[in-house]
Amino acid sequence: MSRFLLTAVALLASLFSLAQAARSKEVSSRSGYIPFNYNGEVFQTWYIYYSKPVVNPLRARPTIVLHGGPGFTHDYMNPLIDLAKNRPVILYDQIGNGQSTHLPSKPTSFWSIDLFVAELENVIKFFSLKRYDIVGHSWGGMLAGEFAARHSMVSRHFGLRRMVLTDSNPQRSLSIQSQAQLLKQFPADVQQEVVTGWKDPARYRQGLEQFFHVYGCRLSPWPADLTTSFDALFAEPSVSQQTGITLANWTVIDRLHKIKVPTLVMNGAHDFIQDFVIQPFLDKLPHVKYHKFENSSHTPFFEEREEFMSIVGRFLE
Ligand SMILES: *[C@@H]1O[C@H](CO)[C@@H](O)[C@H](O)[C@H]1NC(C)=O
Ligand SMILES: *[C@@H]1O[C@H](CO)[C@@H](O)[C@H](O)[C@H]1NC(C)=O
Repeated sequence: MSRFLLTAVALLASLFSLAQAARSKEVSSRSGYIPFNYNGEVFQTWYIYYSKPVVNPLRARPTIVLHGGPGFTHDYMNPLIDLAKNRPVILYDQIGNGQSTHLPSKPTSFWSIDLFVAELENVIKFFSLKRYDIVGHSWGGMLAGEFAARHSMVSRHFGLRRMVLTDSNPQRSLSIQSQAQLLKQFPADVQQEVVTGWKDPARYRQGLEQFFHVYGCRLSPWPADLTTSFDALFAEPSVSQQTGITLANWTVIDRLHKIKVPTLVMNGAHDFIQDFVIQPFLDKLPHVKYHKFENSSHTPFFEEREEFMSIVGRFLE
């Protein structure tokens, strides 16, 4: 009898610990600030790190998510947390906006792509990442491409193993050209508002949102996280204004052949990043795969969330 009781107690105890183990498999997060030393100054990069507690840090390959803009924030990339079921996911606010250091008084020359590459390298060092993947959206993909091209000669791309470039471009002018082409379909007042740009932020936002409802995110209403990033962009426009100027002539096309990392390139059928924009990726990247989201514009992780996660998840395995 007592032996039976002991067995029953042992059984209950093991059931209890199984239940606990199952609970601990839920994704949890921690966030904080990463000190970022740049040309003698120290800034703060805010990050949030999602993972399951059981992830083996020696085996898991984290995914770093690079948001767009420049001048947006990590918020609209929150759907990517879905990927944390199978790997750690790191999101951060790029310098100048969100919860990272704001620097509205810095001169244009400060806002170079070098700054953002240095910040990304600093994030990688902070977490002591030996192997990792990068998902870059829009401007975040330009940053990823620049990072990969610069590190092409350094020990296996500095640890970068796989790269996803979604709704991005290999040359800023191609994206501008594509947007200008599509903008011509809009009423004259919308065109005027977008062209006026930062000279009149309130009108710019009006025009940009009209454009984005067709070629940026076709969901109605917009997901709250997307609106949060739009609000942040317009509350702190300096990053977008200044970096936009320094990026005017940016291209990675002449360096794509050096990027040996397996790369997944994607866009949407209704994306303002039209096919001709991403064609150089497909022509010149040595290890490239392509996927088009047929019912998406510029934000497939909202517009076709399940398909996005399944395609990216499989590619990152
Ligand atoms: C495509 O997306 C729109 C919203 O953006 C949705 O209303 C529609 O049902 C989707 N169509 C298909 C075939 O998934
Ligand atoms: C971009 O190139 C044009 C033409 O060569 C030049 O006038 C302009 O100053 C360049 N812009 C930047 C930011 O380098």
